[in-house]
Amino acid sequence: MQTENLLQQLLRKNNMKKNIKLVAATVVAMGLMASPASYAKEIVIKFSHVTTEATPKGKGAMLFKKLVDERLGGKVRVEVYPSSQLYGDKAVLKALLLNDVQLAAPSLSKFSKYTKQWALFDLPFLFKNPQSLNCFTDSPKGQALLGATERKGIKGLGYWLNGMKQISANTPLITPDNAKGLKFRIMSSDVLKAQFEAVDANPQKMAFSEVYNALATGVIDGQENTWSNIRSKKFFEVQTDTTISNHGVLEYALVTNKRFWNSLPTDIRMQLDQIISEVTAEVTQFALDAAVKDMKTVADSGKTNIHTLTDSQKQQWVAAMKPVWAQFEDQVGKDNIAAVQQCNAQN
Ligand code: LMR
Repeated sequence: MQTENLLQQLLRKNNMKKNIKLVAATVVAMGLMASPASYAKEIVIKFSHVTTEATPKGKGAMLFKKLVDERLGGKVRVEVYPSSQLYGDKAVLKALLLNDVQLAAPSLSKFSKYTKQWALFDLPFLFKNPQSLNCFTDSPKGQALLGATERKGIKGLGYWLNGMKQISANTPLITPDNAKGLKFRIMSSDVLKAQFEAVDANPQKMAFSEVYNALATGVIDGQENTWSNIRSKKFFEVQTDTTISNHGVLEYALVTNKRFWNSLPTDIRMQLDQIISEVTAEVTQFALDAAVKDMKTVADSGKTNIHTLTDSQKQQWVAAMKPVWAQFEDQVGKDNIAAVQQCNAQN
């Protein structure tokens, strides 16, 4: 209506032929004002991570991209960079703070520079199973903990599940004694360091992308990871023995640059939050499925001997590793440990 009035005024005041250019320019300008979305710059979200696309996290990232394309196409574009193509996990958090990438989902074990509290998730034999882990992350305490890195500019958007870790080497690992003197790759976590030192092994912090070669060339003797990572990164091909230890968990924090996130238009941010909550639920299912399917693939390959522990063997690992808790309980919060134990009791 406003546009029409303006045009009429212009045409009345001026000879139409003489002012045709002015009228055309006015129409274009009014059109742009009427629909800002048509000229607003597309928001690009770069999502960098370290696993392959055929993993719970890889699938989650692709699903996020798909749903954003469907619901926010033209306004928001997601670019996914899997398999450490763009950054490893140490560099990605620096890149995130510089807003060179806008989404990442490193393991909670890799945030010690930004919060000491997430070390909770590394305590050996703390979480009974993935259900107990989900129970805790969904709880008020778990949700409060997700905010632990905010004061450093990193905003936690959600927890993404991977699952229970298993342990492998080129020798059977049946009791803690078997690990003595062996070099194990760990993620950059002091709890994981203490966990391997508790069984007189030598932990070595190393980037995920380097593990396969380090195992293949004997730079390290063993590793711990989930079935999906053992399968997708082919660790089982260079480890003669893998033990079903379920001694720890691998959980991710889907994180963004806090300032970037807060700068998004509210309607877009709300739609992205909604998409994230849908994708997070799917990632849980991808992870639970992968734990079964990938373990079977590894077992069927015949390339590594899979060992199941008896209760008494498992208790020996628990007895050797659990004292590590005492070193970290003040840092991670005794109340958080208690909350996990409550979840264990229910699951
Ligand atoms: C690892 O470094 O072993 C894992 O954090 C990799 C991953 O992202 O699953």
